[in-house]
Amino acid sequence: MKLVIVGTGYVGLVTGSCFAEFGYDTLCVDKNENRINELKNAKSPFFEPGLDDLLSKHINKTKLLSFTSSLSSAMNNADIVFITVGTPYLKSEEETDLSAVREVAKEIAENIKNYTVVVTKSTVPPGTTKEVKKIIASKVPEKNFDVVSNPEFLREGSAINDFMRPDRVIIGIENKKSENIMREIYRPLFLKETPIISTTIESSEIIKYASNSFLATKIAFINEVSDLCEKVDADVQDVAKAMGLDNRIGSKFLNVSPGYGGSCFPKDVKTFSSAAKKYGVDLSIVKAVDSSNTQRTINIASRIIKKIGNNLNKKEVCLLGLSFKPNTDDIRESAAIIIARELINKGAKVNCFDPKAMNNAKKVIPKLNCCMSAYEACDNASAIIIATEWNEFRALNLSKIKESASEAVIFDLRNIYNKQYVINLGIEYHGIGK
Ligand code: UGA
Repeated sequence: MKLVIVGTGYVGLVTGSCFAEFGYDTLCVDKNENRINELKNAKSPFFEPGLDDLLSKHINKTKLLSFTSSLSSAMNNADIVFITVGTPYLKSEEETDLSAVREVAKEIAENIKNYTVVVTKSTVPPGTTKEVKKIIASKVPEKNFDVVSNPEFLREGSAINDFMRPDRVIIGIENKKSENIMREIYRPLFLKETPIISTTIESSEIIKYASNSFLATKIAFINEVSDLCEKVDADVQDVAKAMGLDNRIGSKFLNVSPGYGGSCFPKDVKTFSSAAKKYGVDLSIVKAVDSSNTQRTINIASRIIKKIGNNLNKKEVCLLGLSFKPNTDDIRESAAIIIARELINKGAKVNCFDPKAMNNAKKVIPKLNCCMSAYEACDNASAIIIATEWNEFRALNLSKIKESASEAVIFDLRNIYNKQYVINLGIEYHGIGK
């Protein structure tokens, strides 16, 4: 079975590498030639734990993984083509930009040789996979292809593990033939008893948005509850823990934060409600989650600024963590980045440290002062903000930090420290929801 993956972003590259790990001959395509040239040398364009090893293994040793910038030549002998190109949210038009998906569909249509299954793996609004079908059907007899929706649920930072050990695989299909082919390529997961759920194409597309929006709702919900906890002397971590013990609620995704970020939740929550609006459906809860989360980060930034003093001119602030979550260098929609901008706008000098994301952050905020370590970033700081819960921030030598900071104040936006422990060291502590 020959697999073609179009688009080498997170989803495409992880999917391609993992299918090669399953033993499939996998060809990844991207029109960005520089990226393809780097990938041919096993150089990943982003940091994802375990990815470099998989790339090097399957490019150099097994030779199951290869790369090209030519989709037309990639289509020779392709059995399955996965579309994994970007689907950004267009704020001005309040909808998803599907131009890359459409473009790829057209090129696939022009180059289909034998019967091919065309799979949308990019997160796309309901109706998109059928639109892909229409584009291909304008050039190719319907017996020569099928379309399938197969959304991806991997998380950045644990993407390979998520692909190899998913909670479920969703395949939105129109007939048995394409269903059997999809079940066949995911057969290696049968051993792990992964549920493989067949649905209509539209259900499959909605499952992805509903899942991400539901998880985002849990986060926005607990973040709002944390505000109340602060007012009434409750501890949100106790509240979340006790709530999570109810199996109907579940303990995951109830960790408070300065707001969810990343390339998925913010975009998918917006897209879900705007896609529903087109069908006359008001997803009011989903809309509320989006505005709650946007406001959340702004509120947290103002709270910090108010505490340090509104005039931040000449003040130095230490920011630990820039990525939207640990184990990634991705800073898209990261709360840390929004907070950094607010501080700099108010005149502060922001000394930051992040194990992986500093290069990306510097590109969007050139004024950031990137340091070699968390300790260096803390020197002369009027406040220390822990924005992302990287493991290496969990056991910092706080006494050492207290000595080098100009004021011993910590804003622990991920609640990774015990409040009393920090206070006992003579450091002012501001956690969340307690
Ligand atoms: C998310 C989903 O978890 C994946 O299942 C999905 O495949 C992916 O989007 C996607 O659509 O491609 P990801 O954005 O990589 O994955 O990361 P998450 O671990 O879900 O975290 C998203 C954001 O929520 C982060 O900013 C994180 O800090 C925040 N978060 C997460 C919280 O604030 N609290 C929590 O309890 C959990």
